[in-house]
Amino acid sequence: MKALGYSERGPVSAPNSVVEFDADMPAPGARDLLVEVRGVSVNPVDVKVRANRPPEGTRILGFDAAGVVKDVGSDVTTFRPGDEVFYAGEFTRPGSNAEFQAVDERLVGRKPSSLSFSKAAGMPLTSITAWEMLFDSFGIKEGDGGGEAILIIGAAGGVGSILIQLAKKLTGLTVVASASRDDTVAWVKKMGADHVVNHRKPLNEEMKALGISPKFVATLNQTDKHFDAIVDLIKPRGHIALIDDPQDINIGAIKLKALSYSWEFMFARSMFQTEDMDAQSKLLNRVSTMLDDGSLISTVNKHCGTMSETTLREALAHQEEGSAIGKTVLDGFGDA
Ligand SMILES: NC(=O)c1ccc[n+]([C@@H]2O[C@H](COP(=O)([O-])OP(=O)(O)OC[C@H]3O[C@@H](n4cnc5c(N)ncnc54)[C@H](OP(=O)(O)O)[C@@H]3O)[C@@H](O)[C@H]2O)c1
Repeated sequence: MKALGYSERGPVSAPNSVVEFDADMPAPGARDLLVEVRGVSVNPVDVKVRANRPPEGTRILGFDAAGVVKDVGSDVTTFRPGDEVFYAGEFTRPGSNAEFQAVDERLVGRKPSSLSFSKAAGMPLTSITAWEMLFDSFGIKEGDGGGEAILIIGAAGGVGSILIQLAKKLTGLTVVASASRDDTVAWVKKMGADHVVNHRKPLNEEMKALGISPKFVATLNQTDKHFDAIVDLIKPRGHIALIDDPQDINIGAIKLKALSYSWEFMFARSMFQTEDMDAQSKLLNRVSTMLDDGSLISTVNKHCGTMSETTLREALAHQEEGSAIGKTVLDGFGDA
């Protein structure tokens, strides 16, 4: 089958960062679906893996996908051939930048019927991350959170765009989003933010000017730069949840306010094959329903065409710049 991978570590500008090659057809395991990939999206994790992990030959990258089930493993119970699905896959298995992919059914949701394959592929990884932050990391109950506020730092990116929406639709939280440019300010308002602050200015001063001390801070980008301000602006006994990779955090600073600090990693369930791995399938089905009934809107903002060396490189280069607004997607090989 056709696939795109990298055969050398490095930035997207490196010659072997995106190469088309002929890969073996995946053989589905007992709990796997074999999916014909019809749409994919790019994520910062593509950039980080390519920069840091030796490819051991040519490694197929890509996590988010939407497609059609072609075959199922012997123990699969939730899907059958012909079903349209979307998912973000696993960290350690061959990725979605290929004609076909094998994926565990417990990580897969029903594709929203109102979205094209590429638009659907823009949703899973960020939705899983945002959902797990709200309900697992912060431990907020659906319909709860009333009277409290959440500050979402770096809110115009892929994760923030859906986190704003889920917080607004499923909790009673007041949502403060950080964005630094006219375009990103307009985008986070479109996603439903109640207030906007600028993360190029000290966030503690921005929040004081707003008169809001949030109980929850979701830090999605540049946590090390904002950490001191977060500890200053957050409510005592509040909760900081992060998803990026800060190098230098003074964790002792959270003691005086008795803060909680947690790290969301959306690949943890699949990496450790947890008993509740199918929580990701269930939440994706909820997101799918909410997209179809109009409670959520697509966060896709850029479409780079049909997957090829050139178009995938363009999408990854845009992602690598670090200023993406919403999600960037592509159609699968030769299939719009
Ligand atoms: N742990 C997990 O499970 C998990 C899951 C998903 C993503 N992640 C990680 O989380 C991070 C965010 O992912 P994403 O997909 O949302 O990224 P993204 O789409 O690339 O985020 C882009 C946004 O970052 C904002 N930004 C740039 N500089 C900033 C700064 N100094 N402070 C705050 N925000 C800034 C930009 O807003 P402006 O243009 O307005 O400045 C831009 O809109 C990445 O590091 C990714 O690898 C982790």
